[in-house]
Amino acid sequence: MIDAPPHTELSDQAAYAAAVQLATDAAAAYYGQGDSSLDDDAYDQLVRGIAAYEREHPEHVLPSSPTGKVAGGAVTGDVPHTVPMLSLDNVFGPEELADWAASLERRLGRGVTSWSVEPKLDGLAISARYRGGRLVQLVTRGDGTAGEDVSHAIGTIVGLPGRLADAVTVELRGEVMMTAEQFEQACAKRQAHDGSTFANPRSAAAGTLRAQDRPYTCELTFFGYGALPDPGDDSEQAVRLRELPHSEIMAWVAEQGVRTTADTPVAGIVAVTLDEVQARVEHIAAERAELPFGIDGIVIKCDLAGDQRQAGFSSRAPRWAIAYKLPAVEKITKLVGVEWNTGRTGVIAPRAVLEPVELDGSVVTYATLHNVADITRRGLMLGDSVVVYKAGDVIPRVESPVVHLRSGAEQPIVFPEVCPSCGDAIDRSQERWRCVRGRACRAIASIGYAVGRDQLDIEGLAGNRIQQLLDAGLIADFADLFFLTSEQLLTLERMGRTSTDNLLAAIERAKSRPLSRVFCALGVRGTGRSMSRRIARHFGSMDAIRAADAEAIQAVEGMGPEKAPVVVAELVELAPLIDKLVAAGVTMTEPGWRPPVVSGTDVALDAQTTSEVGGTSELPLVGMSVVVTGSMSGALEALTRNQMNELIERAGGKSSSSVSKRTSLLVAGENAGSKRAKAESLDVRIVGPEEFADLVGAFL
Ligand code: IVH
Repeated sequence: MIDAPPHTELSDQAAYAAAVQLATDAAAAYYGQGDSSLDDDAYDQLVRGIAAYEREHPEHVLPSSPTGKVAGGAVTGDVPHTVPMLSLDNVFGPEELADWAASLERRLGRGVTSWSVEPKLDGLAISARYRGGRLVQLVTRGDGTAGEDVSHAIGTIVGLPGRLADAVTVELRGEVMMTAEQFEQACAKRQAHDGSTFANPRSAAAGTLRAQDRPYTCELTFFGYGALPDPGDDSEQAVRLRELPHSEIMAWVAEQGVRTTADTPVAGIVAVTLDEVQARVEHIAAERAELPFGIDGIVIKCDLAGDQRQAGFSSRAPRWAIAYKLPAVEKITKLVGVEWNTGRTGVIAPRAVLEPVELDGSVVTYATLHNVADITRRGLMLGDSVVVYKAGDVIPRVESPVVHLRSGAEQPIVFPEVCPSCGDAIDRSQERWRCVRGRACRAIASIGYAVGRDQLDIEGLAGNRIQQLLDAGLIADFADLFFLTSEQLLTLERMGRTSTDNLLAAIERAKSRPLSRVFCALGVRGTGRSMSRRIARHFGSMDAIRAADAEAIQAVEGMGPEKAPVVVAELVELAPLIDKLVAAGVTMTEPGWRPPVVSGTDVALDAQTTSEVGGTSELPLVGMSVVVTGSMSGALEALTRNQMNELIERAGGKSSSSVSKRTSLLVAGENAGSKRAKAESLDVRIVGPEEFADLVGAFL
């Protein structure tokens, strides 16, 4: 249950005037650059305090007050809206919701027929104008009566197609935002470009939507929440749309090929009683932390057009809808320390230690601080009050110091003089500081990663064994493992004949792992298991990968223009290690590889294949997106999720971790939970592990 938060008490006119100033400044920053010195909770509290003061002293209301204004009166634009883009009034708990519903019903003189309950998406409102089914203009909300033309963003927004299914003239309204994945990608791009990152997905989306001449493009996502025919349009289709219940309008929007929340775990639903509404509110609140996009509340609307018409509008907001606010995912807390850690690739990364703060359902004590340049740019100091953001899949991050809360006792952050792991020197030539020893600094971590189950899968090589081999000078990297002899191993403590033989046999087996695993074992920065598979499947051989330049690497699905040069540079650094692996006879090709049909690179076309399987048309999962859930049994019992994903991709399919409309098949084992339920509701085909094993048996 969510309690109603308090409001700021304003004792006199001076306190009121100061509060109005602070709130208008914060709103201007929020709607302008997307940053603000107040977190959402503090802003809401302040505005409620201002409203309370104004109720008591109506004669003293300042014209600049943010109350009763769209976007706190902060922004304007020059493209008039056909129908005003209004705000929503807020409630903060079940009682306030019940009070609002009761007052609405008093106004109607009867009960509301049915409610529509959907998430309040935390992005930027946008109006997308379609003429004859073609997207012709994008306009921001602005001050609600006129907004800014951002049509330059057409083509960069997932879910907002250039063409609708029907040749209709309509205005779609919805929220433009960044999903957690898009946000991570956008931060990586900005980081590669100028070393800075975005504060949070909302401000990243705001900046991206307005940016016209950035040298890099960041992807956005649109979720529709309404459709309006032009007020002057009295065509049959326009009349019909105006009369449809909101829920049916949204179904129509989805049919047009536009993204709505329909295929997410928080899809809009219709509820008849207020108890059903409240139950859905609680469901959405519970799902929030798992969602790959930010929501800041739940919007409850009268579903029927007739109810909406009768309820009408106030100057600022419709009376037929309300926003049920959820606790903010951005809060101010204290930065109490900074820890420095050297990662597997030798990068030295700072981590913020925070006074614990509850955000999005969990207590946050650590947050990302990126790099030294970033700390300097933000002017952070120890003891600062900082804005911390955490929502859903996004890793907690420190946004900015709240400078006006400084006491004077803040201390500068001390940067390390030497590598915090090995004490050797630091290479400061790049924004990301690195230990001069690179991967060798954390050899134990990089070797441990390379021999892990999803990479080379060498049994019997636990961390203490690796340490022993490093201490004895027998290995310096994981390629050295392939040159170990039984004489060398037998000199080690706790290493008898049997364990020596077993270890050497496990190392020998590792030589035949496919290229995708070998590549993954290298631990190239910016590539994990699935990217390694994509790279291996794209190029087919290590020679082809090494011969590729950044442009060729970029042709791999999901590889952006900033990551590709990093991969190329990493491969140069790793060249001696790769050469050793080649000399040891480790597999350097991907079994079953075929040159890409669509304009692959010349290099890839020259590459060798060790294929035993025929062309892609013979692969059973071609064109299919497959999700695995629950525990596997039968022939698949021993496979890890990663191995299942490898199997799916070997059989021509795409592996994915979440069920959506686009999922072709769900492999559901014992104890399958919400994914199975979701697949059922979307009519996705579901098979058990045995049936799936029959389907892909040849690729096991
Ligand atoms: S309906 C007349 N539905 O919240 C206003 N708005 O605080 C009707 N928002 O400007 C808006 N999710 O940008 C509606 N499912 C949703 C929404 C939503 C997010 C935003 C929208 C609006 C703001 C009001």
